[in-house]
Amino acid sequence: MRSLQAREPAALARLRPRGLRQALPLSLRPCAPSPLLGHRGLRPAARPLYGPSPAASGPITPPPSSRSPGPKQQSTPRATAARAARDPVEDAAAAFHAGSGGDGALADGGGGSNGVLTATLPPPAAAASGAEEQAQEADPLEGPGLRARAAPIEIGFSGGRPQRFDWFAQWWPVAPVELMDASRPHPFTLLGQDLVLWRDGSGQWRAFRDACPHRMAPLSEGRIEKDGQLLCAYHGWRFDGKGTCTEIPTARTPDQLHRATSSPRSCATAHPTLQRGGLLWVWGQGGPGAEEAAAAKQPYLPPEIQVDGTATAGVEAPGWTFRDLPYGHNYFIENVVDPAHVPVSHHNVAGDRYKDARPFGMELTRPVSLEGGFETRTPDPWTKGTVEASTAFKPPAHVRIQQIHTNGGKTILALYSTPTRPGWTRHVGQQLRVAPPGSSSLQGTGFSFFSRPLPQWLTHTLSALFYHQDMVFLHHQERIVAREAAARQGEQAGAGASPSSPSAPVPPPKYFMPTGVDRGVTAWRSWLSTFAGGDVQWAPGTPPLGPRETDPTVLFDTYHTHTKQCVVCSAALARLRLVRAASTALGMLTATLALAAAAVRAMASSAAATPAAAVATASAPLTGGGGGGGLLLAAVARGAAGLLGSGEGLALALAALLCAGVAAAAGRLERLMHVHEYSHQDNA
Ligand code: FES
Ligand SMILES: [Fe+2]
Repeated sequence: MRSLQAREPAALARLRPRGLRQALPLSLRPCAPSPLLGHRGLRPAARPLYGPSPAASGPITPPPSSRSPGPKQQSTPRATAARAARDPVEDAAAAFHAGSGGDGALADGGGGSNGVLTATLPPPAAAASGAEEQAQEADPLEGPGLRARAAPIEIGFSGGRPQRFDWFAQWWPVAPVELMDASRPHPFTLLGQDLVLWRDGSGQWRAFRDACPHRMAPLSEGRIEKDGQLLCAYHGWRFDGKGTCTEIPTARTPDQLHRATSSPRSCATAHPTLQRGGLLWVWGQGGPGAEEAAAAKQPYLPPEIQVDGTATAGVEAPGWTFRDLPYGHNYFIENVVDPAHVPVSHHNVAGDRYKDARPFGMELTRPVSLEGGFETRTPDPWTKGTVEASTAFKPPAHVRIQQIHTNGGKTILALYSTPTRPGWTRHVGQQLRVAPPGSSSLQGTGFSFFSRPLPQWLTHTLSALFYHQDMVFLHHQERIVAREAAARQGEQAGAGASPSSPSAPVPPPKYFMPTGVDRGVTAWRSWLSTFAGGDVQWAPGTPPLGPRETDPTVLFDTYHTHTKQCVVCSAALARLRLVRAASTALGMLTATLALAAAAVRAMASSAAATPAAAVATASAPLTGGGGGGGLLLAAVARGAAGLLGSGEGLALALAALLCAGVAAAAGRLERLMHVHEYSHQDNA
């Protein structure tokens, strides 16, 4: 088995851009420890990342981003402070750039007057100080990517002042309607709010707070009755599609029922819902005023998808899928606006980590803005047969990854992410293929196995491999960043707030992104910091981010995160169980017959070669008779051998093997529909 580590020298050489493969002089290797000078040869000792800080009981040590700047930095903190005094939104963006290695700055491009803020990431040398600065100024890792990094990230807004993004006043896509079981209610969590999704008698999907107004039992444990109403299965209260209570079985008189159900306190709290583009959308707020607020906005659909969910002319849309992923919305978006990870993380599925990872251009073609999100363009993508690629984020939930192929056709990944609870997101997406102009052929378009004509359930099942190749990073990355941020918070605040409290603002990650291919990540974090408070806003009382999951059967669970919730996959799983049981039974039967045929043939051969008298004597105990019985057995053996000759025996053996293969394949697929483990170490 090959591994990246085993092939490290050659692999790393290939991973470096042209011109960067020469060995670095020892003095320019910043990570080489020096016994005399400590880490980077500059600092006396590295502080432990986690655990008690030496500064906890003494003076607070400023974080790296606020250490005394070198001469080139001196104007930046003053400018940032002045801007922060004017506008806290600008300060949020500056905080992100300061956090991304302590080497960024937010330059005001006259934003207050012309409506455009410009966040400029300076070249690496501007971020360094002292000997470190000299080392980085002479850093031979200079290339197109680094130079591109000096280009500005533009943040645009209208009206002279940016608006705040309201996480709750949004339409969020929660599931493809065709994959939902309408016969029962479903629990769903949106922004930390527990909801129940159900379809009423009129055929409309509804979203209620998942708590019965009687004594707060979860309505998702209830039933949808024949009258199309939701029954709380605890004491039998019923609710119509608007949340009105229509029945209280224990009401003594019609008057008592009328008085009770006339009270607003008897109503289930309903969130506005919509069906658009084949998806169920839920408004982030429920209760009074929510309908009016929701009516003022429309959910965002890709232009290739029509309101009824069908595709526009010339576009192939195989249908949405969905998955609950064990990492947060922030990390989902960050991952899908990062094209550089694809050939490495999706090795052998959508690229080759040894051949396809290389520098490429990435420019911001739509400035970061509250409503517009942003777009990046790659004029020289690494994917073969692709002349241009772009990635666009459209708030609150959509990312569009588009490839334009040499024949003019397009491949589009239409992706959504809906924040459910800390550390989790609901992903909904599909691949769209667009034929070249003047052609109906989709040849040359498509992304990995998503383009193959597979049954829908099999595409859903196999797509877990693609998700898990990233998930093994993102689940842990989110928690590593949170822990590191909590440590920084603790350092800065002395005693510090509870690190994982959902109400505590999470500082931006301290990423080191020295090449231009991380421009999408920078744009996403800029949008998040500038407009959306730096993190998802959760409903009060939402449980905090959980710890890193170490049990692979939980981390790689596919049953609860998709199969059980998908009508197509649930039905396929039931069929697979049937196929496995039937093929196992048939295999055992044919194997038994094949063995019997072989035994009979052996006996027949033996009988033919043995004198009749000897056979008669030997078989007497079996037949209970004398020589006549032995002759009878020999005759039966010869007859059976004739019936089950070598051809039939072979056919039975092959049938048994085939049944065993079918049973094993069905069992394997069943397993993947429950747990799909993945390891990059095993993907050579
Ligand atoms: S808790 Fe729902 S009917 Fe009592
Ligand atoms: Fe499915």
